[in-house]
Amino acid sequence: MDEATRLDYLKVMGIECWHVRETLEQNTKTTISNKMETTSIPDNWEQLKQDVNNCQQCELCQSRTQTVFGEGNPNADWLFIGEAPGEQEDLQGKPFVDLAGFLLTEMIRAIGLTRESVFIANILKCRPPDDRDPKAIEIITCHDYLSRQKALISPKIMVAVGRGAAQKLLKTDEPLSKLRGVVHQLDNIPLVVVYHPAYLLRRLSQKQAAWQDLQLALKTYQKLETV
Ligand code: URA
Repeated sequence: MDEATRLDYLKVMGIECWHVRETLEQNTKTTISNKMETTSIPDNWEQLKQDVNNCQQCELCQSRTQTVFGEGNPNADWLFIGEAPGEQEDLQGKPFVDLAGFLLTEMIRAIGLTRESVFIANILKCRPPDDRDPKAIEIITCHDYLSRQKALISPKIMVAVGRGAAQKLLKTDEPLSKLRGVVHQLDNIPLVVVYHPAYLLRRLSQKQAAWQDLQLALKTYQKLETV
């Protein structure tokens, strides 16, 4: 993300304080110089895993048990993206492993895929303490890892899992009701928004709508395959 986009993003989120901006400038310089260093060397999966593993770019490194890189097929056509690891994910080092994770696996199965055939990642690679909302600065500093994952996986379709992930990926405050049911484009890749499985566990009445979201994602993918 370039400096202008980054500052726009913060502005939209209402963060304009002098102190944060100074931190941002430092971070921007670090990210730009990291990018300059890495652009000449082709990226690779092992390097990326190591970078995530050793990351100390924000305060979440102090509270995490471990990073959650993501898991699945590094050549997947489908990339599922959640917002941030929770307690169990932090303990096990894997995304979506609790009851909601079980339901996500079932949702993936419902469209004829397996958890192993897709890739599942989060926007943040570390759990925010007490599962609080991610801070803007954490999203910004972690953004590069997801971008690198996207570049290496080169998915044909992306699925944003839940409101938090959808809003952050699409940089919008629109409610989930407006974001689902539509095929978005992110970096020229179609992106479909689905209900978070944790929400579905609380509201089983939304199962039908969740099925529609999955069908939309599947139809979008199938259309790509026939082009
Ligand atoms: N919710 C998420 O968004 N990601 C996880 O990994 C687990 C729960």
